[in-house]
Amino acid sequence: MIQQTTPPAPASVQTAAYQQCINPTCAATFGVDETHFACPRCADLIDVVYNWDRLPVPDRLAQFQTRWADRHEPLNFSGVWRFRDLLPFAPPESIVTIGEGQTLLQPADKVAQYVGLNQGRLWLQYEGMNPSGSFKDNGMTAAFTHARMVSAHRVACASTGNTSAALAVYCSATDLGFRAIIFIGSGKIAYGKLAQALDHGALTIQIVGDFDDAMQRVRQVADRLGIYLMNSVNPFRLEGQKTIIFRILEALRWEVPDWIVVPGGNLGNSSAFGKAFIELKYLGLIDRVPRLAVINASGARTLDELVGHRKLAWLDGLPEMSTVDSYYTHLDADGIKASTIASAIEINRPVNLKKCLRALHFCGGVVQMVSDQEIMDAKARVGAGGLGGEPASAASVAGAKRLREAGVIAPSDRVVCILTGHQLKDPTATVAYHSGDQDLFDSVLGSRGVKRAGFANRPVVVANDLDDIIRTIALYSEASAPA
Ligand code: F0G
Repeated sequence: MIQQTTPPAPASVQTAAYQQCINPTCAATFGVDETHFACPRCADLIDVVYNWDRLPVPDRLAQFQTRWADRHEPLNFSGVWRFRDLLPFAPPESIVTIGEGQTLLQPADKVAQYVGLNQGRLWLQYEGMNPSGSFKDNGMTAAFTHARMVSAHRVACASTGNTSAALAVYCSATDLGFRAIIFIGSGKIAYGKLAQALDHGALTIQIVGDFDDAMQRVRQVADRLGIYLMNSVNPFRLEGQKTIIFRILEALRWEVPDWIVVPGGNLGNSSAFGKAFIELKYLGLIDRVPRLAVINASGARTLDELVGHRKLAWLDGLPEMSTVDSYYTHLDADGIKASTIASAIEINRPVNLKKCLRALHFCGGVVQMVSDQEIMDAKARVGAGGLGGEPASAASVAGAKRLREAGVIAPSDRVVCILTGHQLKDPTATVAYHSGDQDLFDSVLGSRGVKRAGFANRPVVVANDLDDIIRTIALYSEASAPA
């Protein structure tokens, strides 16, 4: 018998959906019409849980496809709410959607070659196609829906850039009276993302500090001022992010792959993916689960350190938290701050750590660390053979390559790497890698320990002369002609 995410509903819970503290020694329950970003009794994380036997769930995943036929209906158009029976916490009239989740699973044979996989074995799930350009919209639509259910209007987050962009877009694109307040660290946000927050009218508060500092502050502010928190400690965010998995399965004709590889920052995605698989298995909608690989950047490697080296494990919901505390004490004592070119995952204190441990446990998961050099090289290969992504997205491909080289992933395994954010989110890193401008390279990448741009596609400088231009094109066309 597969366990649900949390222990079975206590007899007192009469509703089909409720919230529950994930700590089994507490397991306090709350209605979905309540707002908590931590358990009020023990401060642990909270899950959204369903009494599935009181809910109508399709007996086959393929039944969701029938909703494609009626795409004029906004809830069927949304790539999140098309699967609403698997996140049934909201009355349909409360749902806030801007058409998120029209994303693509792209077969990527050229990238497969780079990773060391057989042809036809690698897919890239491009979440950059979301309205705000990252996977965050999957979670925002669900969290805004809950905010609407509880009549919240001021909504806030701390962010390395994408959460804030998504938050700002949902406030500006809906006419429901939402007001965005975002907290960012100083100099820590890629311009593409900052541009979105500013353009969409969010109150943007830049604090002196990094993401971990901003996260701590926004929780205090939300608590003090009663502002609705949109970070992934909000359990409703993760309900929406489960649908990334449903869309991947849909694109694979409901055949479960061998691996899902995802970058890890605050660990919301990996946690959501684990919950999706636990529930699909519990409901008998899949017969096996894939393995999960969570990829850390070497400059923000808390999960890798705790799981890979200090052997932190789920242990039925009671992981050894003193292991975590002593690692954080060491970070503080030695003044170690997160630092990586993949600014989206520049996080040392991931808020969803425990839920990620659960996901790793259930999915036979592994954690892998990759350097900024590997991230930037993988990013260039994805750009040349896939839809592209920002540096954090390429961590998944760099991680898959490492795991392939170590023999953890086999060449014949079917692997899906999540490209979490759009390529244009962070053009500075891309141009620094390709352009050949040494000063730019040194300041943006060299400072992160990136030494080479081995896959650079240099722009060619030519005099403004027709013959010169034609000669150059001929020269480069020959050089790049297929053998
Ligand atoms: N990739 C991108 C592009 C991201 O923006 C993030 C997180 C992650 C990966 C990591 O995902 O937190 O679920 O493990 N960005 C957050 C933000 C922290 O503020 O935009 P995670």
